[in-house]
Parts: sequence; structure tokens; C-alpha cells
Amino acid sequence: MPVSLDIDGEVVDVEASQDDLLLWVLRNALRKNGPKYGCGAAQCGACTVLANGIPIRSCVFPLSALADKKIETLDGLRAPDGGVHALQAAFILEQAAQCGYCSAGVIMTAAALLRANPAPSDQRVRQALDGNLCRCGSHNRVVRAVLRAADMMAGR
Ligand code: FES
Ligand code: FES
Repeated sequence: MPVSLDIDGEVVDVEASQDDLLLWVLRNALRKNGPKYGCGAAQCGACTVLANGIPIRSCVFPLSALADKKIETLDGLRAPDGGVHALQAAFILEQAAQCGYCSAGVIMTAAALLRANPAPSDQRVRQALDGNLCRCGSHNRVVRAVLRAADMMAGR
């Protein structure tokens, strides 16, 4: 039976069970491949998307837990004018990804942070991203990118 989901600003009906995990529905049914499978246990953050603006680990959330929630993935992330989001631009400028496997989850977590706190400190960025693991060790460049994105969004 189709399940209705609000994904990246569009309501879509997908053939899925309410028990299906959001990550697999996004990747396999909707071909939204930003969120990645890392641990499958809510530990690494590679699968992070936003639900009503809050970062969630899509690898452990069944569709039944997401009724009426607005889901945002990297695919839907845009600047207010519809262009490239400052976080994506800053990640390129700071070369903040190596393999990029963690990047979508990091960027979505950072997007939620910058909406709540447009001018975070270095420490606050590190706290927010504490649960997003990067096996390539690009944490410091990621933090610089998030701070740079905050500056860009503020016109600095
Ligand atoms: S794959 Fe979901 S938190 Fe690691
Ligand atoms: S850039 Fe490779 S895991 Fe983070």
C-alpha cells in the first residue's frame, strides 16, 4: 500500500511498508542517495536527514514514526534564491571532504545548526557535529567550512 511522504518539499507516494526504514526508502525507492549507510545503528551520522528541521538518523527510523513530518535530504538543500547552498559552496572552498561518505550527513546536521544559530562558535559547531563520524579525519576542515558558510550566509 502506498505511503505518502513529504520529501524535499514534494509530497510523494511510495510503495513501502510502515515498517520500512527511511534510509532505504530514500535510497532505493526515491533514488535520493545523499544519506549513506554507515553503521545502521544510529552511531555514525552518515544517514542523517532532517525531520521538521531536526537531524535524525534515517537508518533507524521506520516510516511509521514519520507521519506528517517534512523530510529534508541533501537533494533539497538550496540557498534562499534556489542556488547552491552556502554549506555546499564552503565545503568545496575549504576542501572539507575526502571520500565524501560522511558529507551529506554532516551538511544536513550543520544546516540545522545554522538555522537555529546563524553565528555559532567553533566550539558550538564541534558540539553539533560530535556524533557525525568522519573516518578520513577531515573534522577540522569541516568545522572551518561550517564557520565559513555562516559568514557567507551573513554576507561577511
Ligand atoms: S548509518 Fe545511520 S547513524 Fe550510521
Ligand atoms: S570525508 Fe571520508 S568519511 Fe568523512
